Amino acid sequence: MTESPSYLSATAEAYDAVAVRYADFVRDGLDHLPLDRAIVAAFADFVSAAGVGPVAELGCGPGRITAHLRDLGLDVFGVDLSPVMIDIAREAYPDLRFEVGSMGALDLADGELSGIVSWYSVIHIPPQELPPYFAEFRRVLAPGGWLLLAFFESEGGSMLAFDHKVAPAYRWPIDDLAALAREAGFDEVGRMLREPCEEERYRRGHLLMRSR
Ligand SMILES: C[S@@+](CC[C@H](N)C(=O)[O-])C[C@H]1O[C@@H](n2cnc3c(N)ncnc32)[C@H](O)[C@@H]1O
Repeated sequence: MTESPSYLSATAEAYDAVAVRYADFVRDGLDHLPLDRAIVAAFADFVSAAGVGPVAELGCGPGRITAHLRDLGLDVFGVDLSPVMIDIAREAYPDLRFEVGSMGALDLADGELSGIVSWYSVIHIPPQELPPYFAEFRRVLAPGGWLLLAFFESEGGSMLAFDHKVAPAYRWPIDDLAALAREAGFDEVGRMLREPCEEERYRRGHLLMRSR
């Protein structure tokens, strides 16, 4: 993708404005979310078993998931649209690499990565715009590379825009998001749905996929 659509600058500005509060809000990371930790651990095990190679967290925000992946033994870096988020991530985790950029146009060679995590970042891509993002994920992943997506699920069977507190966002039926990724060259390995915890609104979806 070469152009820079207006929704990207709007998302970056929106996250810049709340970055400090957001980082504070998610500071506990995955401490109280054993099922989330389990699927991230499964991703890390699969990537490690396939050999060493860099992993990117795309839409890393303040970097807490990037750091969690590092703690699981992965060679990981983060990319985010929001320069303020990246400043916060660099300050919190000075041993890790964080870059400003869009996950739709990555400054990476074909097949350079062993794994990609998108933890609640593709939620901000307008649904009709999502296929080129998945194509970009496929381009930078080596064949057999691993992809982990986390998102808000839409139980009703159709994709829904919702009033996310920071930027426009979309909930996906898990089958529809899996089908879109499959069309881009990913095979599903597993999925996890979990019910919302206290103070969460929607069921959470997770897809673990492998590039062909
Ligand atoms: C809900 S936050 C999640 C942050 C982080 N993954 C976490 O769980 O703490 C979504 C993040 O995705 C980033 N984002 C949205 N669209 C993006 C894009 N096209 N490229 C890179 N980052 C993007 C936003 O700037 C924001 O930091």
